[in-house]
Amino acid sequence: MQDAPYTFEVPGPHFVPSHYDNHLERRLSALKGQFADAAAVEAMLAQGDPLLYEVYDFERPHVPGELLHGISIVHPGKVGAEYNMTKGHYHQVLETSEVYYCLKGQGFMVMETPEGEWAVEELHPGRVLYVLPRWAHRTVNTSPNEDVITLFIYPGHSGHDYGTIEQQGFRKLVLEENGVPVIVDNPRWQSPAQRANA
Ligand code: F6R
Ligand code: ZN
Repeated sequence: MQDAPYTFEVPGPHFVPSHYDNHLERRLSALKGQFADAAAVEAMLAQGDPLLYEVYDFERPHVPGELLHGISIVHPGKVGAEYNMTKGHYHQVLETSEVYYCLKGQGFMVMETPEGEWAVEELHPGRVLYVLPRWAHRTVNTSPNEDVITLFIYPGHSGHDYGTIEQQGFRKLVLEENGVPVIVDNPRWQSPAQRANA
């Protein structure tokens, strides 16, 4: 971990940081239950386990006052009709936010709150997205053959809650229909009231 102010470069076209502490790779098997088309997932896994996205980040203490930061790279592709995407999560400390700056590609950030509000914002190079406290977030790559690359920054004490999204997914899915992205309801999703009565 650095103990003096530091800089790093993110040179195009690949935007891999000039140095970093951690490199995470997430493959389809880690998102198995998240894609709507289970048969398409199984068919793809029978042929291998494709790399869906990568994260490069810097080691900083997980405490208030620090800002965790890095580069997220979602590769292009689809599972059935659904575009490649990240697992997505709430922050464990719900009242923490995140800034994303898109460096490359076309895609969406799919977001929702525990109360069932939802929002989908387009990502394209040069666009900054502020994810408010309480909003779960997932990056989706709708580019035909380009990575979606973002710089992210969030508070050191945020933590991650993946379990809530793993259980029911996001309220909205991004699918390809007739060659264009469409936002549709996730049949697996339940409202807070439905969940309470389940
Ligand atoms: C951190 C954050 C991003 C994501 C990254 C991978 O809070 O939102 O750095 O961690 O885009 O996505 P997940 O974490 O959902 O696998
Ligand atoms: Zn986050």
